[in-house]
Amino acid sequence: MARFEPARRLRGEVTAPPDKSISHRAALLGAMSAKPVRISNYLRAADTTSTLAALRAVGALVETRDDEVVVRGVGLREAREPGAPIDVGNAGTLMRLLPGWLAAQELRTFTLDGDDSIRRRPVDRIAQPLARMGAVIEATDGRFPPLHVRGRRLQAIDYELPVASAQVKSCVLLAGLLADGTTTVIEPAPSRDHTERMLAGAGVQVRREGPRVSVTSTDELDAQSLTVPGDLSSAAFMIAAGVLVAKSRLLVRAVGVNWTRTGFLRVLERMGAIVLGELEPLPAPGDLTIAVSEPICDLDVRAGPLQGTTIEPDEVPLAIDELPLLALLGCFAEGETIVRGAQELRVKESDRIAGVVDGLRGLGADIEATDDGFAVTGSGGLRGGTIDSRGDHRMAMLGAIAGLASREGVEVVGMQAAAVSYPGFVEDLGRLISPA
Ligand code: S3P
Repeated sequence: MARFEPARRLRGEVTAPPDKSISHRAALLGAMSAKPVRISNYLRAADTTSTLAALRAVGALVETRDDEVVVRGVGLREAREPGAPIDVGNAGTLMRLLPGWLAAQELRTFTLDGDDSIRRRPVDRIAQPLARMGAVIEATDGRFPPLHVRGRRLQAIDYELPVASAQVKSCVLLAGLLADGTTTVIEPAPSRDHTERMLAGAGVQVRREGPRVSVTSTDELDAQSLTVPGDLSSAAFMIAAGVLVAKSRLLVRAVGVNWTRTGFLRVLERMGAIVLGELEPLPAPGDLTIAVSEPICDLDVRAGPLQGTTIEPDEVPLAIDELPLLALLGCFAEGETIVRGAQELRVKESDRIAGVVDGLRGLGADIEATDDGFAVTGSGGLRGGTIDSRGDHRMAMLGAIAGLASREGVEVVGMQAAAVSYPGFVEDLGRLISPA
């Protein structure tokens, strides 16, 4: 249990921890490459440590140095069959991306398993397309981990995603690198495109045409060494604190601002918050280019009044992990803040619709759950109380920020969950709390 007292104001600078999504992908592409890949600013947190262990289990050599991680891969087709199940821990991204590669390892079998939370999260969303490509996949009730993957020679498919998910898109694209023909994923709405950027950087022909993203079978990946940008999804907690706690002014350094990740900042702007920085512009309609780099910038955040807003289904994938924070911001905004089309929140590290609604209501919020999101009526603040993280890192950090902005403070049960993505969270927050 940790207690977060109301803060008088926040001041100073913070560097966001390295991006979790990009760290997972960089290590994975390194393992799939024949030549060594050096990753600077790799996220040292529970989820991304699980990725390094998983890649070692399938034959990659992984060296962790003070300032970088070096991955010496096995090449696209030479993943080794491990003698034991691969433990993904709490990492949903690892559970969904790694099988895309493993499904094409002919005549080898892999089992992926993880913690209790992972065992409640659906994997049929990847099992179905991989089985259509020719892999043999088994899961508990056809739906939950442990997931057993028997590698086969794969055939390319056109796959229309039932829900916008960068994890599922990435899984199918990785399998597509090893499948005969051209594999196409059709997205209902744009989702984060780190995999496409990194594959393009590794010499793969990645094509985008409207909602269709395609890759063609490849012999070799030439993954590039890279520096991981700061994680906007982690920075978002500091940004929300800076916006909510009166008289605050913060500089959040070196944050990744790829437009497929900055939905939260666009919603904040609509709510009237002052967050200044040079974001990657939204692509012009019809723009088919795939960038190979990840833009970064510093964000200058100031406290100020907020207006309620509606987050529409198309915006959801671009702010998916920040939606709980938008509910918190909605408690302080004038009028209603509504999130629609976000049923995916029910299958994250915890059911984030139930967790946000029960959790914030327990702190005094006027908030209702809907089938596909929530509706918050701003009441100018939050009383405070106790919130249970339910073992979910983002819920733990949400509780901490709620505490700083509340009238009476917040106790967070299960604060240690934050270590999955942001091990230094409490210390960073402590440095920003200004006594005067
Ligand atoms: C992620 C994609 C999102 C996000 C998750 C990380 C990724 O999941 O919620 O934290 O790295 O691709 P979905 O793509 O399943 O929505």
